[in-house]
Amino acid sequence: MNVNALAKLKEIVRIYELFRSPGGKIISLPSGKGGVGKTVVALHLGAALTQFYATAVIDMNFALPNLHSYVRELPDKTLTHYLTGLCRLEEVEKVKVKVGNSVLHVYPSRSIVDIAKKPELEKIVEFLIYLKNKYDYIILDLPPGISKYSLYPVRLSDCVFIVTADEKASYLDATKISKIFGLSGVRVSGYIINKYEKKRDFEFENVVCKIPFSPDVKKFPEVWNKRYFKPKLVKYFTELAEKISQMC
Ligand SMILES: Nc1ncnc2c1ncn2[C@@H]1O[C@H](COP(=O)(O)OP(=O)(O)O)[C@@H](O)[C@H]1O
Ligand SMILES: [Mg+2]
Repeated sequence: MNVNALAKLKEIVRIYELFRSPGGKIISLPSGKGGVGKTVVALHLGAALTQFYATAVIDMNFALPNLHSYVRELPDKTLTHYLTGLCRLEEVEKVKVKVGNSVLHVYPSRSIVDIAKKPELEKIVEFLIYLKNKYDYIILDLPPGISKYSLYPVRLSDCVFIVTADEKASYLDATKISKIFGLSGVRVSGYIINKYEKKRDFEFENVVCKIPFSPDVKKFPEVWNKRYFKPKLVKYFTELAEKISQMC
């Protein structure tokens, strides 16, 4: 066997080990179009899941990461540093965010534009195995569209939910990436329709939820910490978390 074939085989075994290893479930949130709300859905879904399960949200948008802007903190050592060889796995830092009665662990990433080094995507496998031992659910906030940066993490995920906004162009792109995932052997568990305004009837077979258009999405984590009044958004994401915990 030549060296190249052996390296490929080793990679396949490594990924197989990831799937076989017990522990947390990896949930991917890809989309066709950008700006549909993947990042806010990842955070609010994480907030809902962490009320019952140990949950982490990971920024996998290495070109234009923005989880840090929601949690208002960008650690010195992030997943991007690990993937570019600038720190060890155990050194990757998280931000602890109080949501309701629990704490959500958020792993922001530094942009590769700042670091000016190419990430080794294959190292994501070790990072995810490491997290699977710590958490029940690991939510991946991905870049939009189809590229190796979205496809690679999606292929390592236990459940894939395509996020689409309630508009025609977004629905069409969601349909397209779903087809491409199908051709790549990735099973889509369902669709999350975000910014829902009941404008159009576009039917997907397995819509897991419709999150309404609401300015409350920007109030993360505050909406989860209101004592007496729970905004509707909390209810929607709690229902979504219940559904997802039954599916994954
Ligand atoms: N349900 C919603 N209602 C209102 N605004 C939303 C909703 N979901 C997302 N947004 C807004 O849309 C913009 C894009 O959201 P973001 O999560 O960054 O999208 P993506 O990660 O898919 O690029 C943000 O300004 C966000 O506040
Ligand atoms: Mg985003």
